[in-house]
This record gives sequence, C-alpha cells and structure tokens, in this order.
Amino acid sequence: MRMRTRSHLDERIAACEKLIMESFDTSFSGGMPLHIEIGCGKGRFITETAKLNPDIKYIAVEKVSNVIVLAMEKAAKAELENLKFMRGNFQIIAEDIPDKSVDRIYLNFSDPWPKKGYAKRRLTHGGFLEIYKRILKDDGEICFKTDNRELFDFSLESFPENGFTLSEVTFDLHNSGFEGNIMTEYEERFSQMGTPICRLVAKL
Ligand SMILES: C[S@@+](CC[C@H](N)C(=O)[O-])C[C@H]1O[C@@H](n2cnc3c(N)ncnc32)[C@H](O)[C@@H]1O
Repeated sequence: MRMRTRSHLDERIAACEKLIMESFDTSFSGGMPLHIEIGCGKGRFITETAKLNPDIKYIAVEKVSNVIVLAMEKAAKAELENLKFMRGNFQIIAEDIPDKSVDRIYLNFSDPWPKKGYAKRRLTHGGFLEIYKRILKDDGEICFKTDNRELFDFSLESFPENGFTLSEVTFDLHNSGFEGNIMTEYEERFSQMGTPICRLVAKL
C-alpha cells in the first residue's frame, strides 16, 4: 500500500503503539520460549505463527517503516498478546539482547545481496551468525527459508563453518512432506512463479 505522506505513516505507526517494543525488554518472555523473526516484512508469517502458538512469545524485527506498519496492523487486528515488534537494524537491536535468551530465530526470504562486496549484509553471513550464537540458548535453533538458491548454497557452507549443525535441509520445501508450513508474502509470490523453496534448520 502506498503511503500518502510521512505524517500519515507516523500516525499509523502511533496507532500500533501497544505492539512496539522500543528497546529489548527481558520481562516480555516471562519464562516462556522466545522466538524472533529478523526481517518480518509485511508480517503474515509471524502473525499466523503467533496466533497458533499462544504459549510462545514472538518478537518481529524489521528495518523498513513502510513495511513494518503493515505487519503491525495485521497483528493489531488479530489482538495478539504474545507478539511485539522492534523497528530498526537487527545488528543494533541485538546489542541489547542478553546472551542465551532466544529459543529460535526465523530468517524468511532474507535479502540475498548477490554481489560479493555486499556478502557481509547477508543475514546468514558469519558476522550475523556470531550474533545468533551469542543470543541463542544452548539448544536454540535457526529456521531459514529462501527462494534464492545462491543464498541457500552460501548458507549451507556458512552455518557449518561457524559451528552450526544442519538438519531438515530441503531444496523443495513444498514437495518435501514438511507439515505445518506457514507461507510468507514472498514465499507465496515466488512459489506461484514456480520457484522451489529451500529450507534448513541450523542448531548449535
Ligand atoms: C525480501 S524481504 C522478505 C520479507 C518477509 N520475511 C517475507 O518472506 O515475505 C526481507 C526483509 O528483511 C528486512 N531486513 C533485511 N535486513 C534486515 C536487518 N538487518 N534488520 C532488520 N530487517 C532487515 C528488509 O527490510 C525486508 O523487509
């Protein structure tokens, strides 16, 4: 949806105030498992996932305001108590996340940054994996889905190089027998175009 003016966007974000976590709040999880999605986009995945799992707390991180507002509006409609949003770059947000406090990280259709010079921006680059290693609990895991085969192949190497063990690796998720998949907006678009979806789980 196109924003009419910047102030209109600000108003819409302000209307979702209750869903925004300005800085990481350790009391939010309150002893319940904590799952984070980095780059939630328009938020279908995290909203549907949070609806199905009221006993898990979710934080959705997204750096683009025009996009996160759509995700927050979806969550507001669903009146979810277990989902909060953090606006900004995950690298900065992560500085306030305590060690070993996160049970699962979702990376869905992360930007591929195909040029070698931008490899460090990939959310599965070693620099990010070091952050995930610090904030994940010992039995924590990362669930990663993408349509981008180059990014997937890169990740198949970067996770093990950084001490992660891979499981549930598939190059065609929708024909893999995997049950309970929740489609993201990007996933729907790419799978409708016939692009196979890759998925893996990485554990420490
Ligand atoms: C290609 S989109 C996919 C959106 C959604 N996950 C989906 O599958 O429909 C990637 C999203 O990740 C966000 N993103 C990328 N890097 C990020 C970072 N370091 N911190 C926060 N958000 C990020 C982008 O702004 C973008 O909205």
